[in-house]
Amino acid sequence: MSAKEPSITRIRREVREGSFQIATTVIFCLCMASFVVILAVFINDHVKKFMVSEEFYYPHLNIIAPLHPWSPSSHFHCNSSPSSSLSSMLPSNLSVTHSTLMDWISPKDLWHSMTDEELLWRASMVPCIVEYPYNRKPKVAFMFLTRGRLPLAPLWEKFFKCHEGLFSIYLHTSPEFTYEPPQSSVFYKRRIPSQPVHWGRVTMIDAERRLLANALLDFSNERFVLLSETCIPLFNFTTIYTYLMNSNHSFLSSFDDPRRIGRGRYNKRMWPTITLSNWRKGSQWFEVSRRLAVEIVSDVTYYPVFQEHCLPPCYMDEHYLPTLVNKRCPELTSNTSITWTDWSQGGSHPKRFVRRDVSVTFLNRVRFGFNCTYNGVMSSICFLFARKFDPSTLEPLLKIFPTQFGDSHRCSVMINPNH
Ligand SMILES: *[C@@H]1O[C@H](CO)[C@@H](O)[C@H](O)[C@H]1NC(C)=O
Ligand SMILES: *[C@@H]1O[C@H](CO)[C@@H](O)[C@H](O)[C@H]1NC(C)=O
Ligand SMILES: *[C@@H]1O[C@H](CO)[C@@H](O)[C@H](O)[C@H]1NC(C)=O
Ligand SMILES: *[C@@H]1O[C@H](CO)[C@@H](O)[C@H](O)[C@H]1NC(C)=O
Ligand SMILES: *[C@@H]1O[C@H](CO)[C@@H](O)[C@H](O)[C@H]1NC(C)=O
Repeated sequence: MSAKEPSITRIRREVREGSFQIATTVIFCLCMASFVVILAVFINDHVKKFMVSEEFYYPHLNIIAPLHPWSPSSHFHCNSSPSSSLSSMLPSNLSVTHSTLMDWISPKDLWHSMTDEELLWRASMVPCIVEYPYNRKPKVAFMFLTRGRLPLAPLWEKFFKCHEGLFSIYLHTSPEFTYEPPQSSVFYKRRIPSQPVHWGRVTMIDAERRLLANALLDFSNERFVLLSETCIPLFNFTTIYTYLMNSNHSFLSSFDDPRRIGRGRYNKRMWPTITLSNWRKGSQWFEVSRRLAVEIVSDVTYYPVFQEHCLPPCYMDEHYLPTLVNKRCPELTSNTSITWTDWSQGGSHPKRFVRRDVSVTFLNRVRFGFNCTYNGVMSSICFLFARKFDPSTLEPLLKIFPTQFGDSHRCSVMINPNH
């Protein structure tokens, strides 16, 4: 008994200890298992999040680089920074280029795919810092609104010669006109994306706003002249540039014409946005400062009213801008045009000049034969441009220009010292 008793006690104790060990092991295993499960869930969660965000940031990788299909392998992420991996997977011409300020302030290529709505919005932007962070040489934007070729282009070529950097040229032509002059021409690659234009219709104003908006994209353009294919310059470049840059006013003609062909074209439905006392008339051929150009491209108030209610005998090109400027900023314009036209013969079309009309006496009468105020003082130079000149006037004009306007000779000597 005595020998049995302790053994029984020992067995009992062993059984107790054994079950305790089993219980401990089971608990330990359960703990480990739940830890592993929690760890697995945690890792799984993070792996998922990591992959989702990866796909979120680079959803287009499969499309751009079909030879590198997306795989969840993490070495993609570890070996290199995401941006360098991204650019290495892109074709080189799609990779991010480092643009300079100059790309932003002066587009190299006039051709673009912006809609009018996009273009006008972009052109309406004005820097809030008044000082330019670069050496800004103000330029005159010459905006030609034409159907096709410029018959008087050789005269303009002479006019612009040797003044690079002080002007920009913009051509709005019929969309089907695709002629490109030689690379040596000042008109080379100066066409802007154009739309069909109909005389006296809203499409004419659209073309003018399109020209202004394209020219505004170059932040160095300070003055903007609208010209037709029959326009000629009346002075040399230096004189015209100085006259415009020093002027405190724009030259957008705007006046109240009490007659039927003025106030008679006002439509009561324009009220109250435009009243009869706001109503103005003026020549289509304007010259405006940058500030006024921005006002014109940003107008979303008066344009729709004119578009809807200015119908023949109301012509938008004779009333829209004169009325808009009168409403918005009447103090900015001299209220007269800088482009001379001969209406003396009456009728609805101005006189068209032909070869035999052109002489030094005739040109000087237009150049110095008027009185007007310029920056508040009397001036005999009231017009810088004139229209309408037939293609037949080119030859006599080319003869007169160097002798009377005298800049091109000195210029050709500068370019070709051996001549
Ligand atoms: C990028 O370059 C490739 C070949 O070099 C060319 O086929 C493709 O048209 C170019 N894409 C663009 C947007 O210029
Ligand atoms: C142009 O006319 C408006 C009124 O229509 C006037 O307020 C403005 O002062 C005029 N501009 C000049 C330079 O006289
Ligand atoms: C311009 O003014 C001057 C001096 O005031 C005068 O002699 C001349 O006749 C005027 N010219 C015109 C075209 O009115
Ligand atoms: C033209 O504007 C400038 C600068 O705003 C000013 O100093 C000058 O007095 C103005 N001239 C006239 C004639 O108004
Ligand atoms: C431009 O014309 C003016 C007179 O209108 C003249 O004084 C000046 O010398 C001419 N400029 C050049 C560069 O020939």
